[in-house]
Amino acid sequence: MDRIQKIGSHLSPKVAVLGAAGGIGQPLSLLLKLSPLIGELSLYDVANTPGVACDLSHISTGVRVKGYLGPQQLEVALQGCHLVIIPAGVPRKPGMTRDDLFNINASIVKGLCEAVTRACPHAWVAIISNPVNSTVPIAAEIFKRAGTYDPAKLFGVTTLDVIRAETFIAEIAGVDPCQVHVPVIGGHAGVTILPVLSQATPRIQLSEERLKALTARIQDAGTEVVQAKAGTGSATLSMAHAAARFAESCLRAINGDAAVLEYGYVDSKIVPGLPFFSSRFRLGRNGVEEFIALGPLSPLEVKGLEVMREELLSSIKKGVDFAGKQL
Ligand code: NAD
Ligand code: LMR
Repeated sequence: MDRIQKIGSHLSPKVAVLGAAGGIGQPLSLLLKLSPLIGELSLYDVANTPGVACDLSHISTGVRVKGYLGPQQLEVALQGCHLVIIPAGVPRKPGMTRDDLFNINASIVKGLCEAVTRACPHAWVAIISNPVNSTVPIAAEIFKRAGTYDPAKLFGVTTLDVIRAETFIAEIAGVDPCQVHVPVIGGHAGVTILPVLSQATPRIQLSEERLKALTARIQDAGTEVVQAKAGTGSATLSMAHAAARFAESCLRAINGDAAVLEYGYVDSKIVPGLPFFSSRFRLGRNGVEEFIALGPLSPLEVKGLEVMREELLSSIKKGVDFAGKQL
């Protein structure tokens, strides 16, 4: 959080975390409680939020913290929110794909997004719940149906892929991860995660074999954590950091900084035929204000983009179809 600068007289946004008592929700809420960019933190879950909110409220920062428990309190929790972050839902166990979470998490995300349309229809919404490739299209359909859809303000959080790529490249290059920039584009599952290693800075010179191995490590890093946690969940601490970093970018933009560059999985025309895609964009007060071109891709990356196409499109369609069937 040391990169955050206090923004004097701007608004003090209200931020909601839905799923705040979970493995991601708790450390994320802690990091947000430390943020000078937030006025009020609204912590919602179906279990344990009073305790989490009480605990955090004793930390001596200026962020007001309130806990809300259960569906009856959801809309109160969301009233007046500028940013809603959603890590609610079940995580993977070894042997599962993110898509295996669809049946449970699709309904959870749908219910939460319906409440957003009623309580804070203009809020920015950042979805962490997997499978992100499908839950974001579900949210878009729910918002469209309510007439509140603003494609510039709906995001799937893919920051964890970016920080993993930064970390692994820093290890290889022997530099501080803060000095690394690497685009990660596509979606957030397996081959749909495409690190653009040819554009990494500092430049990395690796054989094709090692480039393929590094790409695969970044794509499978979530599974690496799921296996290491051996049935107790998936990435929570690194994800909390990633979500706090993404939230910081949103809050800077909400407060009027028009030069914030981020990555996220959004409604996009950057790759024809893929209506949702993660790439770099510039944020401003209105959300995504400009897409940054993908730039030149190596032959390996062009192939990676083609390989992901079918899976990403089918995950998008699965989300849209699910939302349609709920009409
Ligand atoms: P967890 O089980 O520890 O926590 C989930 C929380 O959601 C629980 O506290 C639970 O009570 C709550 N919840 C369930 N239904 C809810 C509802 N209807 N309303 C509000 N809260 C509800 O899981 P976790 O480890 O925190 O992971 C949460 C989700 O995030 C999973 O789907 C996981 O796959 C995903 N995830 C995504 C990324 C990413 O990069 N986007 C990274 C890690 C995990
Ligand atoms: C991750 O990338 O760590 C998350 O999507 C969680 C998972 O299931 O891998």
